[in-house]
Amino acid sequence: MIAPTDIIRLEAQAVVILDQTRLPSERVERECATVSELVIAIRELAVRGAPALGVAGAMGVALAASQAPDEPELFQRTVLAEAAILAASRPTAINLAVGVQTALEAVTGLWATPAAARSALVEAALAFHLAEVRRCEEIGRHGATLFTAHARICTICNAGALATGGYGTALGVIRRLHEEGLSPAVWVPETRPLLQGARLTAWELAQDGIAHHVIPDGAIASRFGLGLIDGVVVGADRIAANGDTANKVGTYGLAIMARHHGIPFYVAAPNTTIDPSTSTGAEIPIEERPRAEVAGVAGRLTVGDESPVVNPAFDVTPAALIDAIITEDGVLRAPFDFSA
Ligand code: MRU
Repeated sequence: MIAPTDIIRLEAQAVVILDQTRLPSERVERECATVSELVIAIRELAVRGAPALGVAGAMGVALAASQAPDEPELFQRTVLAEAAILAASRPTAINLAVGVQTALEAVTGLWATPAAARSALVEAALAFHLAEVRRCEEIGRHGATLFTAHARICTICNAGALATGGYGTALGVIRRLHEEGLSPAVWVPETRPLLQGARLTAWELAQDGIAHHVIPDGAIASRFGLGLIDGVVVGADRIAANGDTANKVGTYGLAIMARHHGIPFYVAAPNTTIDPSTSTGAEIPIEERPRAEVAGVAGRLTVGDESPVVNPAFDVTPAALIDAIITEDGVLRAPFDFSA
């Protein structure tokens, strides 16, 4: 498995990420030397996945502080402004705002002493990264109890080490089954249009020697119909207080297929993905991505200019279709209530 610091790390003058847009053909690091460069990397999905976005947010605040002027008032104003830009760089995954906020809480009472604030921010960002990886390991441990040997599991997008800064949530469950010698086999829908399933999840599974097949998104229903799937486990970008869950577009369809075929549907996510201040899924902002992601493949136009395109990056699965939510605290069964 890829090491957490190879996925994302904080250096003295940069946040260094493994560029996920280049995988699987190239394993290339990208140095974000300013908050603006990090925001571009986030928007381009060079670093992506809800928990990894939270880690990037926390590290981004530390980076902002390392470059902010020494005069205390200006220091505070600059860091807070950059933190706000970071938190708003993608709207759906609540982890991004949580990572930024966690970092900012570490500087409470330290704004007048920029040097002390800078070290507190570095420490907070590193601790947040480590804690997210530990949370994923716990999710894996709890989630693995839901499956038996040789389970045929469907997931979507990439909810693996790349998406969390280490180990993974949905893939953490699968990884744990593999570590326990229970030989899971994974169905990996491509996840159009950006192919996080085909490019990233398949890459991670291949690295760990876990059995898997990549399948076109439109073909996955037929595998349910043929009785070739025992369970679905997906990650999440934001879980509302009532359990409604935003995740990569296509997740809702999988949940409907699972329910139709009487197959369990699980969401695996750390507590940092739960947003008690959002009461239901209807309040979750859904990111709309550029037309070009749908209208072209490998630099060639695939949709004529006269045809409008819709490109929502996420959808919301109603809590009623979710059999359990796996967090670091254990397996929570419906009905869900995450109101504070
Ligand atoms: O647009 P992306 O690639 O950032 O979307 C990621 C997902 O939808 C993941 O499933 C989710 O963030 C959970 S990651 C553990």
